[in-house]
Amino acid sequence: MNNSDNDRSFVALLDYLKRSQGFDFSGYKRSSLQRRVQKQMNVRGIATLEDYTTYLETHPDEFASLLSTILINVTGFFRDAAAWSYLQEQVLPSLLALKSADTPIRVWSAGCASGEEAYTLVMLLTEILGASAFRQRVKIYATDVDEAALHQARHASYSLQALQAVSLELRNRYFEPIGDRFTFRADLRRVVIFGRHNLVQDAPISRLDLLVCRNTLMYFNAEMQARILSRLHFALSNTGILFLGKAEMLLTHTALFTPINRSHRLFAKVPKVHVRDRLNQNQLAESRAPDSHSAVNHL
Ligand SMILES: C[S@@+](CC[C@H](N)C(=O)[O-])C[C@H]1O[C@@H](n2cnc3c(N)ncnc32)[C@H](O)[C@@H]1O
Repeated sequence: MNNSDNDRSFVALLDYLKRSQGFDFSGYKRSSLQRRVQKQMNVRGIATLEDYTTYLETHPDEFASLLSTILINVTGFFRDAAAWSYLQEQVLPSLLALKSADTPIRVWSAGCASGEEAYTLVMLLTEILGASAFRQRVKIYATDVDEAALHQARHASYSLQALQAVSLELRNRYFEPIGDRFTFRADLRRVVIFGRHNLVQDAPISRLDLLVCRNTLMYFNAEMQARILSRLHFALSNTGILFLGKAEMLLTHTALFTPINRSHRLFAKVPKVHVRDRLNQNQLAESRAPDSHSAVNHL
């Protein structure tokens, strides 16, 4: 089979998944998607995309298995510890200082996988606010497209190995040992609202103070990243903060966000009224240096 036949068969498979499962993979990076599908075909011992599409049609459970191969829910508590420390010490205090003591604090962990990121946020905010104010003021929405990962997240039960990045002090304060596992404290867990949300297709949550979307944008091609970023911009309140993953783009040229700390991928929202000014400035700069272009650059 030549390359264009292969591309056609791949597009046919994606069309089938969209029709049958309502899952649109067209904005995902094509090369990684193809590698993941190939991996799943190898597991099933299937050689062609046509045969694999037939296999999906005749095995209703296969989609869930393919989805988990594609989505790779690798995560961890305090993943990239230095970035979380920076958030806790340098960013959250000034963000919280902007709010009066009784106003709600709204946080979204988008692409939360099995929940470690959401519970990291619970620990961080409880350390700053105290448990009582945390329970009263904070709402953490934690979403993912993967139901199986969300099931684990709601369960909040982790192995000792998974807790390696959590200090003994925090482990004792926030986790209850049950058998050989550790369950996150129920009174604080209730603050987290887990739900299925597809960043490509669903309307964003709004009026957020902090939006954590780490190691998730990297699944998408540049055009889809730009679309999602503009929704994330909409989701934040004017003083809101965006926290991306280490491997993600620097958002150097976007008009929507301004860096707080580039290496930790922490950005402040540029309120909409100022975005137009920035775009005008960019256009002026571009008319002088007309060779820098990418979808993400022109948000
Ligand atoms: C590599 S994990 C990152 C988990 C966590 N944010 C972290 O940084 O440790 C990426 C997550 O993005 C989720 N994801 C992929 N496509 C998505 C989509 N279209 N909408 C929402 N979540 C998606 C995956 O299911 C996966 O759980």
